[in-house]
Amino acid sequence: MDKFVIEGGYKLRGEVRVSGAKNAALPLFAASILIPEPVVFRNVPDVADVFTMAELLSDLGARVERVEKGTWRIDTSSISNTTAPYEVVKRMRASIYVLGPLLARFGRAEVSLPGGCAFGPRPVDFHIRGLKAMGADIRVEHGYIVARAERLGTASIAFDKKSVGATAHLMMAATISDGEVIIENAALEPEVVTLAEFLKLSGAEITGEGTDEVIVRGVDALRSPGEFEVIPDRIEAGTYAVASFMTGGEVTLKNVCVEHLRSVLEKLREAGASFEADSRNRELRMFPGGRIAPVDIFTAPFPGFPTDMQAQFMAMLTVADGTSVIREGIYPDRFKHAFELTRLGADIKVDDGFAVVKGVEKLTGAPVMASDLRASAALVLAGLIAEGTTVVDRIYHLDRGYEDFEKKLSSLGAHIRRIK
Ligand code: EPZ
Repeated sequence: MDKFVIEGGYKLRGEVRVSGAKNAALPLFAASILIPEPVVFRNVPDVADVFTMAELLSDLGARVERVEKGTWRIDTSSISNTTAPYEVVKRMRASIYVLGPLLARFGRAEVSLPGGCAFGPRPVDFHIRGLKAMGADIRVEHGYIVARAERLGTASIAFDKKSVGATAHLMMAATISDGEVIIENAALEPEVVTLAEFLKLSGAEITGEGTDEVIVRGVDALRSPGEFEVIPDRIEAGTYAVASFMTGGEVTLKNVCVEHLRSVLEKLREAGASFEADSRNRELRMFPGGRIAPVDIFTAPFPGFPTDMQAQFMAMLTVADGTSVIREGIYPDRFKHAFELTRLGADIKVDDGFAVVKGVEKLTGAPVMASDLRASAALVLAGLIAEGTTVVDRIYHLDRGYEDFEKKLSSLGAHIRRIK
């Protein structure tokens, strides 16, 4: 298992280009199942989850080619198999995204039920309930979701709480159907909006994306729009912005969608960071900040503060001038990184969806272990400011969602290296 070895105490300086968003690329790749012609995606990040999704599409019979770094060509015209096996789905929950498109185009699909993950259960009941409402016959047998549908049709679906995955998944499935599907309490995340844009360029009839109510009028078939560019990764961008501020550095982030970062930038400013957000040039210039002020965080669906930035902010707040309260409104158990940060000298109390972070003078390096994608990033950030050497183990979690993480950090002056 690879590890990162980090020498703390170096300010980050220079420029870093933000890669394409993993959480946009994954549903886009799955949506190509709806289109029986080649599609070219650009600005796709080289991260493990993208390769896993590519492998899954190939297993289904699609022709998937990584043309060059960032560019993939997917042709699903020759798909013959409609089963997504356990050994793939257990590696990546987002595999569930292929279920609806397979069902809409072929009338059948068998997708293994995804497992849980490091921060608790991750049910897919909204996904299944939505497909059933659209007319699918769905049974769970031997750990597989077995779905059949002559034709998907009209439905009105209301989610108890906002779900990025269920909104994206059901929106995709509804594009090829005989009726009109209304999705109430839909997710507003940019990754859902850009997926709707791609589907509309392919001939789908969708309105309301980016609002609480999305309406999809089914069509008979979709056509390839040719090429499509993946939006920049707002969580990767937020991660580098926090890294710059907490190391007292001066980093310019290129290829950033500033409007996707409003709540994160608001919180950074509250914590004392100074920066210039230039949406026209898609740049975020972080300036050397002063002290880190304590802030309270309450994670919520977009446009609220993203749960995927919670761990990174916690790493920063471990050395703030005071006490911060973090409430996880999405995944109450998403605090495993708190216990690892404590090993570096942090003072954090966790209880029932809350974490109380009392700022300490400094962190000191130690061996720590990553548990999930964003927890890993938080431990690396902490290592950047901890006195001495920090070793982060199990960084395969990181490789799932951060492209060239140690290379980008090294180019900014961090002392970090990967050891096998
Ligand atoms: C997406 O996961 C992201 N993953 C997650 O990012 C992110 O943390 C999450 O959205 C929340 O923003 C991808 O986009 C691939 P949800 P998803 O459905 O779609 C409950 C990362 O770090 N729920 O919005 O699985 C669920 O338990 C990853 O990149 C149900 O109850 O999240 C949670 O409490 C980690 N039933 C809430 O909804 C369902 O059928 C939001 O989950 C579906 C969800």
